[in-house]
Amino acid sequence: MKIKPVVKGLLTFIPGMQSILPSTGTGGTNSAYWCYGIWLKHLTLLWENGTHTIPNTIAELGPGDSIGTGLAAMLCGANNYYAMDVVKHSNIETNLVIFDELIELIKSRAKRPTKGWPDIDKYYDDTLFPSHILTDELLEETLSEKRISAIRNAIKNPEYQNEGVTIKYMVPWSADNTIEEETVDVILSHSVLQEIAELEGAYRALYLWLKPNGMMTHQIDFGAQYFADTWNGHRAYPEFLWTIIKGRRPYLINRQPPSVHVDFLKKNKFKITCLLKSYREDGIPRSKLSAYWRNITDDDFTCDGAVIQAKKQVPGAE
Ligand SMILES: C[S@@+](CC[C@H](N)C(=O)[O-])C[C@H]1O[C@@H](n2cnc3c(N)ncnc32)[C@H](O)[C@@H]1O
Repeated sequence: MKIKPVVKGLLTFIPGMQSILPSTGTGGTNSAYWCYGIWLKHLTLLWENGTHTIPNTIAELGPGDSIGTGLAAMLCGANNYYAMDVVKHSNIETNLVIFDELIELIKSRAKRPTKGWPDIDKYYDDTLFPSHILTDELLEETLSEKRISAIRNAIKNPEYQNEGVTIKYMVPWSADNTIEEETVDVILSHSVLQEIAELEGAYRALYLWLKPNGMMTHQIDFGAQYFADTWNGHRAYPEFLWTIIKGRRPYLINRQPPSVHVDFLKKNKFKITCLLKSYREDGIPRSKLSAYWRNITDDDFTCDGAVIQAKKQVPGAE
């Protein structure tokens, strides 16, 4: 256990303190290459698991420092993009810089960034680009000057609706009024679901927003981040201490293991089409977990990451 997160949590109870505590950014989407890599990975895995169209409408939870992942999707053909966060991490200036870099990356069919996890290189071509999905024919259309200019205008102006492209950055979003029901083709999140406080409400909202047969793709990081020195040390804090660490922060890791996500998917009648998990054997032993977490299953205890893709089933379908 570390003392710094407890002190920071306590400080957030002091009125006005939250706004002056240093913000370190969200770590990733301030790089166009990172955003490009996220989009290529989720898109390629969706393709492998049966989705063979570029989504017309895409929603992203927790875009972070920029909306670059959604912009990459738009440059590959998506026309409407909803970005939902709880803190306004991104701004128009950063998004425009990232956008210009993304155009070059996609135009040059740049290879995917570092291999990372999961390793999906076998699905890319020899140049480590998904040319079976992002064909020359498709990109010629999606990267036309007219489209690029329309997307750029939509980044600058949230009300922009010309040329059939829209971008809505919703901060903070709320489950009830964010997106019209059954209007979204794909929902994506990358390293976000481990931070959503109200997972049950979020999964319900995701279900409502998706069109029938719509898809979700999420990568989840179950590690302790900077809350402990070991990857699983976040589950050592007893509940009262965790409440102090949470303080009045706008969000914090929720410490929920993979089985909880799978249960919510099943409860909402999603069909899981892809479930990849990574495991670690190091970290603190089970005996050092707090009483609340000590009896989690072996799978939950050792799983440090997952990619989950799921389809909203049409009622009556298997
Ligand atoms: C670790 S960052 C990941 C950012 C980005 N997706 C990436 O891959 O770099 C987590 C993001 O989730 C956001 N977040 C936390 N709780 C959220 C919620 N309930 N709804 C939407 N976003 C949330 C945070 O504000 C932050 O932008």
